[in-house]
This record gives sequence, C-alpha cells and structure tokens, in this order.
Amino acid sequence: MTDTNESKLAEALAAIRDASDAAALDAQRVTALGKQGWVSQLLKTLGGMSPEQRQSEGPRIQSIRAQVSDAIVARKSEIDAAALEAQLASETLDLTLPAPDAPRGSVHPVSQVMDELAEIFADMGFSVATGPEIEDDWHNFTALNMAETHPARAMHDTFYFPDRDAEGNRMLLRTHTSPVQIRSMVAQGAPVRIIAPGRVYRSDSDATHTPMFHQIEGLVVDEGIHLGHLKWTLETFLKAFFERDDIVLRLRPSYFPFTEPSVEVDVGWKDVKGRRVLGGDGDAPGHGWMELLGSGVINRRVIEFAGLDPDKWQGFAFGVGVDRLAMLKYGMDDLRAFFDGDPRWLAHYGFSPFDQPTLSGGVGARA
Ligand code: DAH
Repeated sequence: MTDTNESKLAEALAAIRDASDAAALDAQRVTALGKQGWVSQLLKTLGGMSPEQRQSEGPRIQSIRAQVSDAIVARKSEIDAAALEAQLASETLDLTLPAPDAPRGSVHPVSQVMDELAEIFADMGFSVATGPEIEDDWHNFTALNMAETHPARAMHDTFYFPDRDAEGNRMLLRTHTSPVQIRSMVAQGAPVRIIAPGRVYRSDSDATHTPMFHQIEGLVVDEGIHLGHLKWTLETFLKAFFERDDIVLRLRPSYFPFTEPSVEVDVGWKDVKGRRVLGGDGDAPGHGWMELLGSGVINRRVIEFAGLDPDKWQGFAFGVGVDRLAMLKYGMDDLRAFFDGDPRWLAHYGFSPFDQPTLSGGVGARA
C-alpha cells in the first residue's frame, strides 16, 4: 500500500465524518465508491497485478473499500437520526395555545338532514342500510317489477355503463335508493325495518334537478302491514322532521311499479286554519301543497322477487328526496348551489359539527 492511498483514505474518512447532510454524504460515496471513484479504480488495478502482488495488495485495497463503506453507513445513520430528531422537535404541539375563536368548517345541509332522518327513524326502530351506487339492472329495475320493456324505465333517464358484469347484467348508476329494498330483503329476510340513505343519479339538470342527488328509502316488511302503518309512520316522521305538530299531509293515489296501491304524499304550506306552516310562496296558485315523497304498499311481485312469501309477508315502502327536504326545511331555493362547494354558501347554510341532531334537543338545531 502506497502512502498516497493511506492519505487518500484518511482524507476520505474525514470528509465522510464532516458530511453535514445526506446529499453531501452521497457526493463522498460517489467520489470514493462510484464507478469512476478512486476506490473502484484501485480495485480495478488488482486485475493487472502478479499473483504475489495481488496477494499482498488485495487485502489492503479491500480493507480501504470496507473502511470507506463502513464510515458511510455509520455517518448515514447519524444524519438520519439527526433529521428525525429535528422533525420531532419541529412538530411538537403547543398545548398551551388558545383554541381558535370559532370552529372552522361546517356540516353540509344534506349531511345534516340525513343525520336528522337517521335519528328520527332510529327512534322508531329502523336501522340504516346501504347499497352500491354502481348497481345492476336486476336490482335497480327488474326486481322492482320493472321488466326490460316496462315503460316506467323511460322515466328514469338512466346512466348506463358500456360493459356488463360477470353474470352478463347491464350495469348502471342507480336511479333511486329502491334497489336497497331488494338487497335488504334478500340479505336479512323478514321482518325488516330499514332506511337507506344515499346518492342517486339521473341524466337531468336544471334549478331543481341535478344529475346526482340524494334519497332516503324506507322499508318495513312484517306480517299484516297495511296502508295505515305507512300513514302513521310518515306523519310521525314529518312532524319530527319539521318540528311541529300541525303538519298537514295529503295522500294522492299514484302509480309505482313496485307498490300497489301507490301513494304520493304532499305536505301543505298551511295548516287547516289557513295559517302558514312551512316557508315558501304559500299564496301563489298551486303552491299550497308541496310534493314530497312516493310510497305505497309493496307489490306482491317485489316480495316474491326478493325471495319471500307474499302470503306471509307484507310491507310498505317510501322514497324521499333528501335535498328537497333540506330546501324545504332550511329555505334554499336553488338545488345546484348544494353541489358548488362554495365556502360562503356552506358558512351560511352549514351546521356546526358539534351540534349533533337529537330528538330531545330538537333534531334541527340551527348552527
Ligand atoms: N323510487 C321512487 C323514485 O325514485 C320513489 C319511491 C316511490 C320509492 C314509491 C318507494 C316507493 O319506496 O314506495 O321515484
């Protein structure tokens, strides 16, 4: 071993020890051990040596390589430890800082209304069920008594996917929360008492329609269920939701393929004495009633599609637009603003995350 190599080694070890960060250390690694590095060049000289020379020089050169690489590993772990130490020091939390004046962020009215509905229906013994937003044709339509050629399908402006699932089903974005009725009956059998909140999709867009909106489905299946149970449930729910007892409902005969009979439910702007009950333009013609939801006694065929015996099990179901409920209760008039994500709108119409809806506290306590 030459003196040059000895002093080069000493120099390299000193430089490695002095490297202040990962980049500087890596530069030292390249200088010594990189392809063109002096240690690599030194290793290459072994090839041109006589066997005797190699026997004496080999171990020395290998020892230089080992010392350099050991020094790099050692320094690397020191640098990493120091970096971690610095990060921990800079990320400490000062628990003595005062809390912010006002909490930031707010709960979207749609989330608020969904929480209110869950609270109201939980009190009536309903649990919350969910289903997929990407649904198959069978659950969304066929099992709800809408065969492929059923004219009611045309009312749904459906977003279809180009591909089918593994079983050859046409796939779509669910157009309503009603397929969760089928999924719940198939999964749980009967009796069943659920609400199913969630997003639904239709190719439709104006001030009162957005391509994505929210519904809550209600489903009760048991023995001896009839229209009276439905009426009581809806009345109880709407009184709790609007937080007043003088709510007036109007049940209109209607048609849905999955219910028989089918009822559409309107809520009145005014009570029987003509006093204004809810907000809105109650005096304009045709504005005394607001169409709120679809419902009915479940069609026998739907019970059958879900694998239950319609002679033993009956039920009722309803579907409500959550966005519409929110507009009605909290007084917004353009549905599109719901989905703009404008922080000023949210600050105005949003709710405090600390204000959980409870029946005892009034489900809709204002933020
Ligand atoms: N699925 C219907 C819709 O989106 C609403 C509906 C009507 C749901 C009647 C029901 C029902 O459960 O019984 O238009």
